[in-house]
This record gives sequence, C-alpha cells and structure tokens, in this order.
Amino acid sequence: MIIAVDGPTASGKGTVARALARHYGLPHLDTGLLYRAVGYQVARLGGDPDEAGTALAATRFPDDLLADPELRSEATGGLASRVSVHPAVRQALYERQRAFALQPGGAVLDGRDIGTVIAPEAEAKLFVTASVAARAARRFREMRESGREVELADIMADLAARDERDRNRAEAPLREAEGAHVLDTSEMTVDEAIAAAIAAVEHAR
Ligand code: C5P
Repeated sequence: MIIAVDGPTASGKGTVARALARHYGLPHLDTGLLYRAVGYQVARLGGDPDEAGTALAATRFPDDLLADPELRSEATGGLASRVSVHPAVRQALYERQRAFALQPGGAVLDGRDIGTVIAPEAEAKLFVTASVAARAARRFREMRESGREVELADIMADLAARDERDRNRAEAPLREAEGAHVLDTSEMTVDEAIAAAIAAVEHAR
C-alpha cells in the first residue's frame, strides 16, 4: 500500500505521515528533506537558489547531509521552497522518490506533490491542512521551546510567502490530488489528527 500525504508547511503532515508509517509498519520518506538538502547545499556552495543550473548542481548532495539539524531551520525551508520551483531540480529528485514509493511492501511519503506527481496511483491520499494562524502558532511554540527568539508576525509572513510560492509555481504546484481526503487539523490535537488520518486510510484502502 502506498500512502501519499501532502499539505503546506506546519500543517501536521509530517506528524501524520510518521504515525501512519508506524501504524501500518511501512517505511516513511519526508520528501521535503530532499529539497531542503538541495537548498542548503546551494547556500554552502555560495550559489544563487533562484538560478536553475546552480540549484540542479546542488541535487548531488552527500547522503549524510540529510541528518544535518540545520536542514530543519526556517531559513533552509525558505531556500528549499526557492530551489523547488526549478523543473530540472524536481526531475533530478523524482527517481529517488518514485523508487521509494514502489518498494515491494509499500511506503508512506509526505510532501507537496506525492498524490499528484510522485505516486498518483497511491491507494490512500491525504491532504493535511490548517489555517495560517494555527500553523504559525504551532511553529511559534516549537521555536520558542527550542530557545529561539522569534516573532509570531514574522512566522506568519514567512508561512504565507512559502504557501504562495508552493501553490503558484508552474511545475507540480501544491494542490489537493483528485480523490484526496482533506484533513483540516486547525482545531485538532495531535492524537485526533492521527486517529482521523488512520480512519481516512482505512476508508480508502
Ligand atoms: O515540507 P517542507 O517544509 O520540509 O518542504 C520544504 C519545501 O520544499 C517546501 O516549501 C516546498 O517548496 C518544497 N517541497 C516540494 N515538493 C515536495 C516536498 C517539498 O516542492 N514534495
């Protein structure tokens, strides 16, 4: 069984995808991490993320880069969103994601275009979303807890900019796949979101 989980930043899609993988005993790939690695690699090389050739060259990043904690930062998220608009970058990362999806036992993948591009044949497709206010509040809490000085207004502006870029790019824009179950987690606890996701997968398979 392939489970595709898509949605915007801080919607809870990563938490939902990890929980589904645990529940069904499937391997999980956070595809955002691949784009983050490319963005981070461009920055390390001192290149321009908006330049397609530079971004494409950065898709040859070392595997151990995926474990670097800096990949999780907001700054890297912004770089990821910029390199991900280039079709050549998306193409370069396609095979790796496709091969992961096609493992014999099945897999859970989360990202922006899993149900639309990477695995349109997925048995279960979820589109996890939440209001900008709810997502910004979560990010704000996480960052404050990790001891970082951040302003809620800055986080909201950053999320809105990233949503705008992800939804409006020409190649593989963020959108609900046909037949996807939309899960709005704005008013849900983590446990409620996980229970709703499992119910949606059970209904779909
Ligand atoms: O999900 P995450 O916030 O880690 O993704 C970082 C960025 O990578 C997103 O804003 C998006 O631009 C890009 N991305 C993508 N396609 C995916 C996963 C992530 O374009 N499948």
